[in-house]
Amino acid sequence: MAMSSPGPVRACVFDAYGTLFDFASAARGCRDVLGDSFDKLTALWREKQLQYTWLRAAQGRHADFWQVTGDALDFSLETLMLKQPGLRDRLMELYLTLDTFPEVPDVLRQLKATGLKTAILSNGTPEMLDSAVKNAGIDGLLDHVLSVEEVGVYKPDPRVYQLAVDQLGVPASQISFQSSNAWDAYAASSFGMRVVWCNRYRQRKERLPGQPDFEIETLVELPKIIGASQN
Ligand code: LAC
Repeated sequence: MAMSSPGPVRACVFDAYGTLFDFASAARGCRDVLGDSFDKLTALWREKQLQYTWLRAAQGRHADFWQVTGDALDFSLETLMLKQPGLRDRLMELYLTLDTFPEVPDVLRQLKATGLKTAILSNGTPEMLDSAVKNAGIDGLLDHVLSVEEVGVYKPDPRVYQLAVDQLGVPASQISFQSSNAWDAYAASSFGMRVVWCNRYRQRKERLPGQPDFEIETLVELPKIIGASQN
């Protein structure tokens, strides 16, 4: 078994955006006005949103993820010269009710059935996460929904990963962390968590500290990996 950390996995902690929730579903929901530029908007919006989190963390000038997401959207709409009236509000509204990736509810159900704790650990604000989780109907499948707002700094600051350890009462070495964001996966690994990198976006390996224990394409394979690590 590749996982060499001591003891069984006791908790599965998930990144939210891109891992459980499909952030592309917001722009996809506005295809009627965006036409073919919906995927360009998704890519630029996400890239800028993440940049702003890293830049604000580096500057020690935190603003919550709702503001950062709106700022990134404004930048992207201006760059792509998308000026349709009402579009910004519609996109932000859709960000509160993003689709889950299709396998998510069933995978969470399988993990819960084995007695594992489950949680989200995300840059999202408590309000954004609460809305997405309730809209997806997965609130009953999560023991904790943890927001970086509790520590006031963004991933990959180690204080964010420590928040999961503190709130779950489970050591990092017994937490399996799942993220589709390569940089997030590497940072959680470097922090000391076991990591399953759900490489939905076929990213290249990061040249950063850390080394995910497993790489999968969707979360479908996760229950088997976790099950094997319990033996
Ligand atoms: C999150 C972003 C990084 O949910 O996807 O924290």
